[in-house]
Amino acid sequence: MAFIHKGFIKAQTLISVNQYVLRLILAISTVTPVTTATANFSDPCYNYIVLDNPWRSISNSYNTTCDTSVSWSGWYRLFINGLSAHIPDTCVTRQRCGTDYSLWIRGGHPTVEDGVVTRDVCGYAGSYCCYYGSYPIKVKACPGNYYVYELVSPTLCNSAYCADTGNVTSTAVTPVTISPDPCYNYTVLDNPWRSINNTNNTMCDQPVSWSGWYRLFINGLSAHVADTCVAQQRCGTYYSLWIRGGHPTVKDGVVTRDVCGYAGSFCCFYGSFPIKVKACPGNYYVYELVRPAFCNSAYCADVTDISAAFTTVTPETTSAGINITLQEGCTSPNCFENLLEQIENITSSQVLSVTTVTNILTMAFNASEKILDSSSSSVSPTELASHGNRVLKTSEKLISTLVKPTDTSDNVSLALAAVEVEVFMVGPSVTLTKIPRLDTTNSSVDIDLIGIAKNNKGSAAVAFMGYNTMENLLKPDFFNTSNDTVKTMMSTVISATLPKTNNTKLTKPVNFTLKHIREFDPNGSLSCVYWNISEWIVDGCSVLETNSNYTVCSCVHLSTFALIMQTSRPAESDSQLDLLNLVCVIVGLVFFSLALLTFALCQWSPGVNNVARINICISLLLAHLLFLLTQQFLDLIRPQQVLCAAISGVLHFLFLSGFVWMFIEAVLLFICVRNLSQISSKKREVLSTGFLCVIGYTVALVVVAVSVGLLPEGYGSEHCWIKMDKGFIWSFLGPVCVILALNMILFINIIIKLNSTLKNLNAEVSQMKQTKIMTFKTLAQFVVLGCSWILGFFTNGRKELEILFLILNSQQGTFIFLVYCVLNNEVRQQYRKCFRCLCCGRKQH
Ligand SMILES: *[C@@H]1O[C@H](CO)[C@@H](O)[C@H](O)[C@H]1NC(C)=O
Ligand SMILES: *[C@@H]1O[C@H](CO)[C@@H](O)[C@H](O)[C@H]1NC(C)=O
Ligand SMILES: *[C@@H]1O[C@H](CO)[C@@H](O)[C@H](O)[C@H]1NC(C)=O
Ligand SMILES: *[C@@H]1O[C@H](CO)[C@@H](O)[C@H](O)[C@H]1NC(C)=O
Ligand SMILES: *[C@@H]1O[C@H](CO)[C@@H](O)[C@H](O)[C@H]1NC(C)=O
Ligand SMILES: *[C@@H]1O[C@H](CO)[C@@H](O)[C@H](O)[C@H]1NC(C)=O
Ligand SMILES: *[C@@H]1O[C@H](CO)[C@@H](O)[C@H](O)[C@H]1NC(C)=O
Ligand SMILES: *[C@@H]1O[C@H](CO)[C@@H](O)[C@H](O)[C@H]1NC(C)=O
Ligand SMILES: *[C@@H]1O[C@H](CO)[C@@H](O)[C@H](O)[C@H]1NC(C)=O
Repeated sequence: MAFIHKGFIKAQTLISVNQYVLRLILAISTVTPVTTATANFSDPCYNYIVLDNPWRSISNSYNTTCDTSVSWSGWYRLFINGLSAHIPDTCVTRQRCGTDYSLWIRGGHPTVEDGVVTRDVCGYAGSYCCYYGSYPIKVKACPGNYYVYELVSPTLCNSAYCADTGNVTSTAVTPVTISPDPCYNYTVLDNPWRSINNTNNTMCDQPVSWSGWYRLFINGLSAHVADTCVAQQRCGTYYSLWIRGGHPTVKDGVVTRDVCGYAGSFCCFYGSFPIKVKACPGNYYVYELVRPAFCNSAYCADVTDISAAFTTVTPETTSAGINITLQEGCTSPNCFENLLEQIENITSSQVLSVTTVTNILTMAFNASEKILDSSSSSVSPTELASHGNRVLKTSEKLISTLVKPTDTSDNVSLALAAVEVEVFMVGPSVTLTKIPRLDTTNSSVDIDLIGIAKNNKGSAAVAFMGYNTMENLLKPDFFNTSNDTVKTMMSTVISATLPKTNNTKLTKPVNFTLKHIREFDPNGSLSCVYWNISEWIVDGCSVLETNSNYTVCSCVHLSTFALIMQTSRPAESDSQLDLLNLVCVIVGLVFFSLALLTFALCQWSPGVNNVARINICISLLLAHLLFLLTQQFLDLIRPQQVLCAAISGVLHFLFLSGFVWMFIEAVLLFICVRNLSQISSKKREVLSTGFLCVIGYTVALVVVAVSVGLLPEGYGSEHCWIKMDKGFIWSFLGPVCVILALNMILFINIIIKLNSTLKNLNAEVSQMKQTKIMTFKTLAQFVVLGCSWILGFFTNGRKELEILFLILNSQQGTFIFLVYCVLNNEVRQQYRKCFRCLCCGRKQH
């Protein structure tokens, strides 16, 4: 079998090679200039453009060529590799001639005697040879057995005129004889919904089993099939079918007429099978109706006068519609592709209603989001960008269909969750000198549309779109700068285009006002950028003015824009610094625990109140411990925004209580010093421990509660601490500064008091000395605990200061232990005692 098959192919190849050689020989022998001195130069037969595109051959298969991009003008003669050719005049199937819809002419070629004739241009689709109609062309047969054509731009892409070197068919029309006379043997078709005034659009004539001849009525009133162009969505259907070529007279007998449906910009964009028509005595018509070539379409019925001959009427184009569908649960990229393709297939001259565009956009963005959701992890940035390009392109195309011709000015707007659109059109009779600013929620544009319209015969339109989710596709990282910075999208992505406007040259720069959608970092630098296929670039755009809430960008061209902020990359988390931090904090924690243990276990001499000291240790120990744990498990905690905020609240509370207790300690010391000079009241218990505890913790709690109440969003920064921006940090630094200031005043007072008491020799010397020591210890503690935070203010990225801050802050525990335990005689004695006990215990064992 295989052998036979191979042999067959070989034979075929040989035959086609032979043919090719033959044709070549023929071509060489026949290509001779036809122009002679006597040629009439106004005759297209001698004044044509040679069109030798071998790809037009009907033996060529599918390609993407499209004749709409050619600027056609005048008459053409076709060749294929130098061999004279003609446009086929019999049906050509789809995807031939290097295009998708292969255009052929209907009605055969004329003879030389016929002169110039007009022929319909058809493209095969569905089940019908003339499913797509293009604008008719003029054809002339020339002496010397060739043809010339006055070609025009076809109605749709992708389509192209075919070329064939075979035989042409004659124009002979076969006469039609019908018996019995259909004028007296017809079916009555009284469907009031066929009325040309019915704008419902649900009916379709395809499922009807048509057979024989019909006479139309509307509610009993005699009617006929419309013979002038009918707009879409009339006659109870979408594509309202009308007949082209006018109605015949009684003496014409039975004639055949094309059936057309309006779409795009051409009254016969869609063609259905031709039908037979007969005029009957008594002023009515009968039709041999057949099943139309496509749904949703139906024959139109009209009761008004018929027109005698073919007329081209451009229908009002406001109610035109398209049929875009999306499969249920469309999540696959293929399905989305299909949707986008359908949108891209909309002819750009079409006008759609706001509702239609809204529906399609909703579908497209819904599908787009679903696809991103379902494959977000696996999509590479390049894919995202190309997907973004696609979405931009299709939505621009779709939005351009909102532009409709206007005499003065008009505007259309729509808003979806994903996109907001403003379209403004001006016409020749516009009286405005400046169009109003076009606004979306977070952006607006000023454009000199009037000036642009002057360059476009008075008409122009601008479409302004704000995409709220586009930054997920066109990421700010696509902004490639030489500086290694963090890029943040500061505005929504916006697009401005001049749809259906030929001369898009700007007369003045366009100015965009972009509201900042994120916190503006005063240290960051802002760039107005536009999207060029795969990256954000700056060329032609500049920042006109800026403040913390919005930025005005000025650009000398239109496209897709955004505002990107660059901030310096946060210092790479230094692993050495991290280790140092970890060790320091752990050492600090150990000493905190030791100090706490000492305070709790050791018996102090009466009169020394260590409640405050114990509580400072508890607060700071817990604070440091929580801080350490949070930083170690930051990756786990950060995603839980509420937990993160709660932790920063608790930290705020603990650090603040540390400071409040420090203040209490100073107050106690102050009271103690004052009591020195008033020996009589010495024995009085200063303040009860319970009362102190209430004060110590309530103050901090109140501050935190007020902060939460006023600015709950201030908690939960990157490091689960208070956010540094917008001054939230003052909810911590404010109270700290107040306490430090009060402490300062207290200490000055204490020192003055001590000095004056020193002069008073009544005071007991040992008591004096102890108090003095105590004062200096507390002062030192105040300096170390308080000033380390003040230092934190000034680090500002300076490494040495940062390390100093880190050490001072983490060693608060060590310091307290050193000052209150190691340097304290009493405690040292206690330690020695404990130590001896331990040793003895071990010896006795
Ligand atoms: C159009 O449809 C509506 C609702 O489906 C119906 O009430 C109305 O009668 C229809 N109009 C015509 C002319 O059929
Ligand atoms: C009327 O036409 C139908 C077919 O359209 C045919 O079957 C029938 O015989 C005709 N009736 C007469 C009376 O000729
Ligand atoms: C869009 O048009 C192209 C040809 O122009 C056709 O091949 C394709 O099937 C169309 N797509 C849809 C979804 O209609
Ligand atoms: C778009 O998605 C939303 C929620 O995902 C849904 O409520 C809405 O019906 C969808 N719209 C369309 C037109 O599919
Ligand atoms: C945009 O701003 C520039 C500079 O202020 C100005 O010259 C230009 O006219 C403005 N463009 C429009 C359309 O207002
Ligand atoms: C970014 O620009 C630099 C040169 O400035 C170039 O070497 C690099 O390849 C670019 N990166 C990307 C992703 O385009
Ligand atoms: C990039 O770096 C250069 C010098 O290194 C500096 O002049 C420029 O301002 C920087 N640009 C940004 C956006 O930071
Ligand atoms: C506008 O910006 C704000 C932030 O400033 C944002 O919350 C909001 O969602 C934006 N609105 C739209 C429609 O983009
Ligand atoms: C946009 O990108 C293309 C290809 O990357 C490049 O050829 C073109 O010059 C760019 N346009 C501008 C204005 O930079």
